[in-house]
Amino acid sequence: MNMMKKLSCSSFSLFFIMFLTFLNIILCDDHGQLQNYEQVMLPAVIGPESIAFDCHGKGPYVGVSDGRILKWQGSPPGWTQFAITSSNRQRKLCDGSTDSRMEPICGRPLGLKFNKKTCQLYIADAYFGLLVVGPNGGQALKLVASAEGVPFRFTNALDIDTNTGHVYFTDTSIVFQRRDYLLALMRGDKTGRLLKYDPHSKKVTVMYKGLAFPNGVALSKNNSFILVAESNTMQILRFWLHDHNQNITTTTTSYAPEVFATLERFPDNIKRNHKGEFWVALNSARGMIKKADSDPWFTEDPVGLKFDEMGKVVMLLDGKGGEALESVSEVEEHGECLYMGSSIKPYVGIINLKT
Ligand SMILES: *[C@@H]1O[C@H](CO)[C@@H](O)[C@H](O)[C@H]1NC(C)=O
Ligand SMILES: *[C@@H]1O[C@H](CO)[C@@H](O)[C@H](O)[C@H]1NC(C)=O
Repeated sequence: MNMMKKLSCSSFSLFFIMFLTFLNIILCDDHGQLQNYEQVMLPAVIGPESIAFDCHGKGPYVGVSDGRILKWQGSPPGWTQFAITSSNRQRKLCDGSTDSRMEPICGRPLGLKFNKKTCQLYIADAYFGLLVVGPNGGQALKLVASAEGVPFRFTNALDIDTNTGHVYFTDTSIVFQRRDYLLALMRGDKTGRLLKYDPHSKKVTVMYKGLAFPNGVALSKNNSFILVAESNTMQILRFWLHDHNQNITTTTTSYAPEVFATLERFPDNIKRNHKGEFWVALNSARGMIKKADSDPWFTEDPVGLKFDEMGKVVMLLDGKGGEALESVSEVEEHGECLYMGSSIKPYVGIINLKT
């Protein structure tokens, strides 16, 4: 049995609140304590931006501040090193690092996803591009680090079409590196790209360019469209991958996006659950939110929203101003739990959805 699941999903006795009127809202209690919530601390490092489970449902796996990808093996032994992305990474220099100046040497894996057919882990590393590693981990293989002659500068998130093996991923900026993300946001950088990698031809295609801080990506359940979080416009964009005749679109111009959802905070990663719904993490800009009476899902502190395929909010994760969920980069629904990543916190947060 998966130890993490055991640890996180069956050891709770706390009361859990769910409103079933407009949508489900996951709340804290009056003292800012989350219900059915626990934290799994990382070993000395921070920033488990993205969370993945392998083809046997084991994990979670997380990419952290010192460039390693760690795997949760249950306690004990807890977290163990699974893979690294940098070919000249020195353990003495890198292990345990939380210094962003070390990232270009040590690596910074942001996007993680297993191809459930091949059990390979695909990695979007902010500094080393798109990589892949086998089910036993180790040194990841670099697949691609530029497109149309322009090097990736800030590879960020990915998703995989398991039928074709195609990997869809974002390069947030061709100008700013990850450690300068605040500058990219402040300057209104619009050089981000949505890309596609074909593992058979080993070719990379630019699907769309000129995006304002493209961040998370998620394919729909039947792979007919892809969602991209455009952080600096606070929008979720939808790109249809097939035309209405189910013909595969081949020209760049046919990938014109439509707005899937407009948000009031910066969206980060997007993860699809088994039902085909999408969890969007709202990473920052607390206090910016304005109350609109038309929003049935309004709360003071939404840190995650779950959308159906039509773009309707069906569940909300409310941080209630507490510290635990002040920087959620990803919400991954797995089994009966929500696993929450963060680009700055030293833990993975877990909420048990089952009462
Ligand atoms: C895939 O899902 C989309 C959105 O729900 C739907 O519009 C489309 O018809 C589906 N396509 C196929 C081939 O089932
Ligand atoms: C795909 O496009 C071609 C050329 O436009 C067309 O002849 C064909 O009928 C289309 N396929 C389907 C399944 O509609």
